[in-house]
Amino acid sequence: MFRKNCGKTMTPTSVHDIFIICLFIFSRFARGLEDCRSGMYPPKGPTFKSNVSWYTVDLDLPPSERWTQVIKDKNTELITMVRTIKDLANGFFNGKLVDLVDGALPLIVDTLPHPFNEEIKGIAAISGIPLGEITLFNIFYEVFTVCTSVVAEDLNGNIYHARNLDFGLFMGWDQQNKTWTLTEKLKPLVVNVNFQRGNKTVFKSTNFAGYVGILTGIRPGEFSLTVNERFNVDGGYVGILEWILGWRDGMWMGFLTRKVLENATSYEDVKDQLSQTKLLAPAYFILGGNRTGQGCVITRTRINTLDIWELDMKLGRWYVLETNYDHWEKPLIFDDRRTPAMKCMNQTTQANISLSSIYNVLSTKPVLNKLTTYTSLMEVSTGTLESYIRDCPNPCTPW
Ligand SMILES: *[C@@H]1O[C@H](CO)[C@@H](O)[C@H](O)[C@H]1NC(C)=O
Ligand SMILES: *[C@@H]1O[C@H](CO)[C@@H](O)[C@H](O)[C@H]1NC(C)=O
Ligand SMILES: *[C@@H]1O[C@H](CO)[C@@H](O)[C@H](O)[C@H]1NC(C)=O
Ligand SMILES: *[C@@H]1O[C@H](CO)[C@@H](O)[C@H](O)[C@H]1NC(C)=O
Ligand SMILES: *[C@@H]1O[C@H](CO)[C@@H](O)[C@H](O)[C@H]1NC(C)=O
Ligand SMILES: *[C@@H]1O[C@H](CO)[C@@H](O)[C@H](O)[C@H]1NC(C)=O
Ligand SMILES: *[C@@H]1O[C@H](CO)[C@@H](O)[C@H](O)[C@H]1NC(C)=O
Repeated sequence: MFRKNCGKTMTPTSVHDIFIICLFIFSRFARGLEDCRSGMYPPKGPTFKSNVSWYTVDLDLPPSERWTQVIKDKNTELITMVRTIKDLANGFFNGKLVDLVDGALPLIVDTLPHPFNEEIKGIAAISGIPLGEITLFNIFYEVFTVCTSVVAEDLNGNIYHARNLDFGLFMGWDQQNKTWTLTEKLKPLVVNVNFQRGNKTVFKSTNFAGYVGILTGIRPGEFSLTVNERFNVDGGYVGILEWILGWRDGMWMGFLTRKVLENATSYEDVKDQLSQTKLLAPAYFILGGNRTGQGCVITRTRINTLDIWELDMKLGRWYVLETNYDHWEKPLIFDDRRTPAMKCMNQTTQANISLSSIYNVLSTKPVLNKLTTYTSLMEVSTGTLESYIRDCPNPCTPW
């Protein structure tokens, strides 16, 4: 499918590289900036595809039984998605990657921390999907999520936290429908999950069925948390490779976020854990709290923390916004979602910030793009988590 765009027969890896470069160049010309949107909320119209349904995960159950209902409902979609990922992986390294997945990953699942190992095994058993493939599926999101996250404070000290999750694998462009096949296949897997103990909500998340980590979550009344991918030379691949080779002192980021949502009880505690735990891959953690000034972006390498960028009303910093670039550096010119998002935040003003006005910002292209899978809106004080599946009809840039 890439060959058509960029000519000649090449090894799959270099075809992929060239394909991405073609797209980058293309998107510089195609990127149309649009005026900040208004009146988009409540979500409706062509950029809103559907609501996300709610499930309960009972943390009092044995880990292997927790996801039964979710998997039963989403099994067809999950099988399709896993097969698509596997087909794509097959194109790399002459299929050796798939051998690795089927051979080595089932063994590696046992080295994952509890309860994740048991939950993944449970999901494999219920879905009938081989264990190695479900494990791959869980690793997948650690590597391929490109996002926009924002934490903002209104004039009353209320903290809002919102994000667009863009599924950032630039593969499977569907020429007919002008969409990314993988992104489209992922949309039906989005679920809202209410994690309970003793029949009471502990935290809530927006998840992909089959994935046991957390990319978007809220602990009502206490804090909210999102993760954005951070691309870096010492990137995820190095850490993941180390982990596969048996050097396992780093933590998967989606597991760390779930751990703090499940067991940490304050903004400060979460901030410390997210800054100090060794990770498998670099990341940005975006954290919101329950009172004025509690909002930050934590820029992580695998080993340490480069920077914590916090709300500061005295400096007039009433929001912090993170895409996929260090906030003190310029974003890549062909992927600048930050400037348009900030322009719209600035236009909205602190006096008029709300979940509804942030939804407008996240509905403005290119903050909304072809890769955008869902938009989540969270408000810590009320415990609100709302998520919406998005579409970006043409004209719309690939990212
Ligand atoms: C989505 O949910 C909202 C609020 O619950 C409801 O008003 C709306 O009709 C739903 N939309 C669709 C397309 O299901
Ligand atoms: C385009 O979308 C339609 C409707 O969703 C679908 O039936 C068709 O298979 C898609 N085309 C391709 C090439 O996937
Ligand atoms: C939760 O509620 C169900 C029925 O509503 C009850 O059977 C169960 O014992 C409750 N669990 C706990 C831990 O309270
Ligand atoms: C949270 O703490 C409980 C009790 O110590 C433990 O059983 C559970 O595995 C922890 N959750 C995570 C995700 O680490
Ligand atoms: C904010 O969170 C802290 C720590 O979890 C908690 O003690 C406090 O009661 C919360 N404040 C409000 C207003 O909910
Ligand atoms: C938004 O406002 C901030 C603070 O005044 C300013 O630093 C930034 O340059 C503005 N950004 C845009 C894109 O308008
Ligand atoms: C504030 O936001 C509301 C809803 O998003 C909008 O209708 C209104 O025009 C905005 N007011 C200002 C002053 O921007």
